Amino acid sequence: MLKIITNPNQILRQKSQPVANVANAEIKKLISEMTEIMMTKDGVGLAAPQIGQNIRLIVINHKDEVLVIINPKIVKKSFFKEWGEEGCLSVPGKYGEVKRHKSITTKYIDDKGKTQEVSAKGLLARVIQHEIDHLDGILFVDKVRGLHQLEK
Ligand code: CO
Repeated sequence: MLKIITNPNQILRQKSQPVANVANAEIKKLISEMTEIMMTKDGVGLAAPQIGQNIRLIVINHKDEVLVIINPKIVKKSFFKEWGEEGCLSVPGKYGEVKRHKSITTKYIDDKGKTQEVSAKGLLARVIQHEIDHLDGILFVDKVRGLHQLEK
């Protein structure tokens, strides 16, 4: 199984490049491997830089369904923001509150190469914003308040 890269690491700090060809066999393999590792680690989302690939690809575990989000672009965001607890597989054991837009609309390409648009609020909106940050080299600890370590 793939290994998750943890902070600090330069790969997590780079701006990722768009995926050129979704139909590519390597991309398909990467999507299934990322899905597997996200499920195994019980994560709500995973971005490609977290497994060492600086490309704009995200998988999200949403209500037991896997959302594959490629080359995302937030096209609409609420004026209002809210604080909410976050953690990250690349920052193991640490949690804290981050301020995010309450709702967003994201345009992206799915795993079949089709353009999609999703309007999200609550947890899903939060997860999408967290994962898109990964694609821009940003970690939740950059924006956090009340960072704390959870004992295992
Ligand atoms: Co993360």
